[in-house]
Amino acid sequence: MPIDLIALARECSVVPERSTDPGTVRDLLDRDGAAVLTGAGTDIDTAATVAATVLADRLVASARPIEVTDGGGMDRRHSADAARRMLPLHTDGFGYGAQAPDVFFLVCATPSAGDGLSFLVDQQRLLDVLAADPDGRELAEFARTHPVDQSEPGARPAIGPLALPLPSGASAVRRSADVRPTDDDPDPARTDRLLTLWQGILDGVGALAPRFALDAGSAIAIDNARLAHGRDAYTTPGRSLWRCWAWTDRAGGVPAGELWSDTRMLFALG
Ligand SMILES: [Fe+2]
Repeated sequence: MPIDLIALARECSVVPERSTDPGTVRDLLDRDGAAVLTGAGTDIDTAATVAATVLADRLVASARPIEVTDGGGMDRRHSADAARRMLPLHTDGFGYGAQAPDVFFLVCATPSAGDGLSFLVDQQRLLDVLAADPDGRELAEFARTHPVDQSEPGARPAIGPLALPLPSGASAVRRSADVRPTDDDPDPARTDRLLTLWQGILDGVGALAPRFALDAGSAIAIDNARLAHGRDAYTTPGRSLWRCWAWTDRAGGVPAGELWSDTRMLFALG
């Protein structure tokens, strides 16, 4: 039987539950891979402290918050028309490899009105479901074992399986826009075929996943080792969120040097 994208989307999408209590949000984050803290605040101070508020003694390090807007700001990936396109499923900080933040927060300062909705897909669950399906087994095995190149152009090499093993024995499933066979891949045609299949499944499941809105003052916590996230296009000017990356005791280590909630240090360090 062919891979059923509608069934995968039903089984692997996550719509986060909400709570005003940070401890409840921490428990929901463990259970579901995402949760929303309501009434958190809208300013940079909220963004700078939300990781400690929610993660408490599990927090090892958090990075300086970055404002995410349609205007670009400090986010070098944004172009003028980026808002008018869907931001496909991805994970943050994949260029850091095993040292990518394992949890991150988005604090909603100014929501868009009626569009720009968010969606989440549990990639670990997706691999489990594929592994149990005779038609998906090869892909799941590939994602868990075959090294691929997810290096950002001009940054440090980021090579390893899509589901990158962490020192703890767990893995972090990464998703970048630009993934390709390594230079020494013994069978780049097979790798490219399976990467295309994986990207196609993620794009299909992302398009089918249920959407949810973030309200002003809400902070979403996302398990970045488990879930990929995306958002729909939006037209409301002035949409603004704070992004804050965090590393817990389950991360594969904390990068050296100054921590920002983007990958600028990968380039600064060469
Ligand atoms: Fe992101």
